[in-house]
Amino acid sequence: MTKTIVTLAGDGIGPEIMAAGLEVLEAVAKKNNFDYTTVAKPFGGAGIDVAGHPLPEDTLEAAKTADAILLAAIGSPKYDNAPVRPEQGLLAIRKELNLFANIRPVKIFDALKHLSPLKPERIEGVDFVVVRELTGGIYFGEHILEDEKARDINDYSADEIRRIMHKAFKLAQMRGKKVTSIDKQNVLATSKLWRNVAEEVATEYPDVTLEHQLVDSAAMIMITNPARFDVVVTENLFGDILSDESSVLPGTLGVMPSASHSEGGPSLYEPIHGSAPDIAGQGIANPISMILSVAMMLRESFGEIAGAEMIENAVDKTLNQGILTRDIGGQTSTADMTAAIISNL
Ligand code: NAD
Ligand code: IPM
Ligand code: MN
Repeated sequence: MTKTIVTLAGDGIGPEIMAAGLEVLEAVAKKNNFDYTTVAKPFGGAGIDVAGHPLPEDTLEAAKTADAILLAAIGSPKYDNAPVRPEQGLLAIRKELNLFANIRPVKIFDALKHLSPLKPERIEGVDFVVVRELTGGIYFGEHILEDEKARDINDYSADEIRRIMHKAFKLAQMRGKKVTSIDKQNVLATSKLWRNVAEEVATEYPDVTLEHQLVDSAAMIMITNPARFDVVVTENLFGDILSDESSVLPGTLGVMPSASHSEGGPSLYEPIHGSAPDIAGQGIANPISMILSVAMMLRESFGEIAGAEMIENAVDKTLNQGILTRDIGGQTSTADMTAAIISNL
């Protein structure tokens, strides 16, 4: 059966890296007889421009009925002071599709080791996954802005914590069998509940070790001893911050993909970075974050393991050949990097 993939290119470098991801998908699909069709929809700033809303009705409908969704990036300084912002579309699609489990893998590429600001011995053996809760917490509580006062509500139910914990523990069972749950239990009520639920869920996974870490010291450990982590599970805001911090390990945000899952609905795949307005339109963005998001989609939504591995190996090989975009110290354009990856498939 033909799979339908909805593509949301968005803003800034979004369309540039989406084109790259789709070229790679096309090449891999041919080699593996993967039958698919894509439907492009406006989203983010592009949605505001054509439909007055960052998540137009028609885009949401298409996403709901898709087999998977590829999203590049949204956001533009043009909307910095606008009443409706592109980011609202991103939060809305996550909520509407119930994409509560955001999986952000962190791995080091041999060819990029020298680019990490960390000493080589510190990044040796680094291979962990940030499991970020994506549809709750302070992102989705009330935001009240008054002239002289403002308030953001951080809200979690035990069930919301339970389901993300199960995702983390199941993932750990398939990896290094260790979960690090990150919270701010010494201050926040939501974190006290978070820790209690983590303990409760852990009893169902006797083969997995659970450790707790406060978020401030976790941020430090991520830089001083990142090899200690296997599966890191944390709430929405902490996961946002820590996952960008983790991009320092491979040396750039431009190689970081992600997958977001619900219970039974279509999953969404997107780089963890944004629309990079500082380099948009120049053809120099690193497409690897998008290309590896395509690989995650092939594996996790379609069981196309061979296709996913083909992409991952081609990315490794291309980097090893010294074909590097500017963020990783080279001069190669987005288009040339993409072509090199395709020829290495
Ligand atoms: P950003 O992630 O867009 O960029 C941070 C830095 O990383 C920039 O210097 C950028 O050039 C670089 N970078 C990011 N991706 C790159 C790539 N593929 N290749 C090379 N360099 C890359 O973060 P920002 O500048 O703080 O935010 C810009 C806009 O993006 C904002 O509007 C923000 O809200 C939005 N945003 C969107 C998403 C998303 O679509 N999921 C994620 C984060 C930020
Ligand atoms: C991300 C982004 C978004 C988030 C923004 C753009 C709303 O930073 O996907 O990490 O904070 O979740
Ligand atoms: Mn972020």
